[in-house]
Amino acid sequence: MATVEFANVFKIYPDGYTAIKDLCLEIKDGEFLVFVGPSGCGKSTAMRMLAGLEEISAGKLIIDGEVVNDKTPQQRNIAMVFQNYALYPHMTVKQNLEFPLRMMKMPLKERQQRIQEAAQKLGLTQLLERKPKALSGGQRQRVAMGRAIVRDPAVFLMDEPLSNLDAKMRVQIRTEIAQLQRSMRTTMVYVTHDQVEAMTMGDRVAVMRTGELQQIAPPQALYDHPANVFVASFIGSPAMNIFHSQLQKTESGTFIIDVAGQHLVVDQTVVDRYSQLQHYVERPILAGLRPEAFSLPGADISPDRCLPVEVEAVEALGHEMIVYFDAPVSRVEVEDSRDGTTAGSLKGGQSSSILIARLPSNRNVYTGTQVNLGVDTSKLYLFHLDGKAIGN
Ligand SMILES: Nc1ncnc2c1ncn2[C@@H]1O[C@H](COP(=O)(O)OP(=O)(O)OP(=O)(O)O)[C@@H](O)[C@H]1O
Ligand SMILES: [Mg+2]
Repeated sequence: MATVEFANVFKIYPDGYTAIKDLCLEIKDGEFLVFVGPSGCGKSTAMRMLAGLEEISAGKLIIDGEVVNDKTPQQRNIAMVFQNYALYPHMTVKQNLEFPLRMMKMPLKERQQRIQEAAQKLGLTQLLERKPKALSGGQRQRVAMGRAIVRDPAVFLMDEPLSNLDAKMRVQIRTEIAQLQRSMRTTMVYVTHDQVEAMTMGDRVAVMRTGELQQIAPPQALYDHPANVFVASFIGSPAMNIFHSQLQKTESGTFIIDVAGQHLVVDQTVVDRYSQLQHYVERPILAGLRPEAFSLPGADISPDRCLPVEVEAVEALGHEMIVYFDAPVSRVEVEDSRDGTTAGSLKGGQSSSILIARLPSNRNVYTGTQVNLGVDTSKLYLFHLDGKAIGN
C-alpha cells in the first residue's frame, strides 16, 4: 500500500504541447481515485508518468514520501492494466498469471499460492488451463486484472480497462473492480472518460480538462457543488442546463431568478447556500438547472415556480423520459477540445434555446403539447460569467 502525490507536475511533449499543467493532488493510502475527463485531457499522460513510462517535464512525483521521478517502472512497484491489455495467446490463463511472478524470480511455491488466490478472487479457478482465445471478453479482462494483482503492487493503475467490453459486462466488471479494491485496500488510480463509471466507482474523482485539474472531490460533492461550469456540465447526464440569467430582489426581500423570461422565486435553501447572493442582484450571471430539477406539476405547485413551455421532442426511456423544450434562454455550451482556451471559459456565440428536462414517463406529454413545467429552485446553481461557481 502507498500514498501518491503529484506536486506541480507538468508534461510537455517534444512538439511543445503541454499535456499536463501544474498538477497537484494527493492520493491517500488505500484510496480509490478516479481520473475523468474528455478525450485528450491528459488522463493517460498522467497515468504513464505515474507508472514511469513517460518522463516528467517538471515537478515531483512522490510515492510513499519518496520522489520517484528518476525511478524505473520496476522500482516503483506499480501494476497497470491498459485499455488494450494483451494476454499471451500461446499461454494458458495460469501461465499468463504466472508470467510477471517468474519475471520477479519468485519461488515456485509462492507463485502457486499467489495464482490460486488471485484466481479465486476473480472467479478464474475453473479457467486456469484455458488459452485466452477460449475465453469471453469479460473473462479475458479478469485475467488481465489477475496478472496485475498477483504481483501485490503498492499502487494499481487502470486506464480505461473496460472499453473493450459491452455495456452489460462493463457494469458487471466495474462492480467487481470496486469490490476487489475494497477488499484488498490497495491504492487504486482508475482512468475513464465515462462520468457514470467515475461516479459509481471512486472514493474521490479528479475531473481534468485540457491538462488542468478542475476539481477533486467525492462523487456526491462534485454533483452537489461543482467548482465551475465545466464540472457542472460534465458530471450528470443529460448535462446541466446552464444559461444567462439575472437575479432580482423584490421589495419584500424575496430573491427572483429569470428562467426563460419567467421570474421564479429562489428557494430559501439557495439563499442560505450562497451567502453573498445580495451582491449579484441585477448583475449578469449564469444559472444552472439539472434536467432532474424540472417536474410535471401536480396541483400543489405554486405558479411562481412554474414555466409554461412547448414540448419540442420527447425521448421515451421506459421508466422516464427526456423532454426537450424550446424556451427563450441563451444557453451556454462548455467546450473541451485540445484547442480549448483556459479552464472554465465558454464557447463564444453558440447559444441555443433548448432546455432539457428529465421526467417520469407520462403519455400526455408529446411533441407540440403545452405543459406547465415545475422548477425546483432549491436545485439552482449560480456561476460567474467566467464559469466559476459563485462562492468559490
Ligand atoms: N507523444 C506525444 N506528443 C505530443 N502530444 C501528445 C503525445 N501523446 C499525447 N499527446 C497529446 O496530449 C494530450 C493528452 O493525451 P492523453 O493520451 O493523455 O489523453 P487522454 O485524456 O488519455 O485521452 P483519451 O480519453 O482519448 O484516452 C492529447 O491532446 C494528445 O494528443
Ligand atoms: Mg487515454
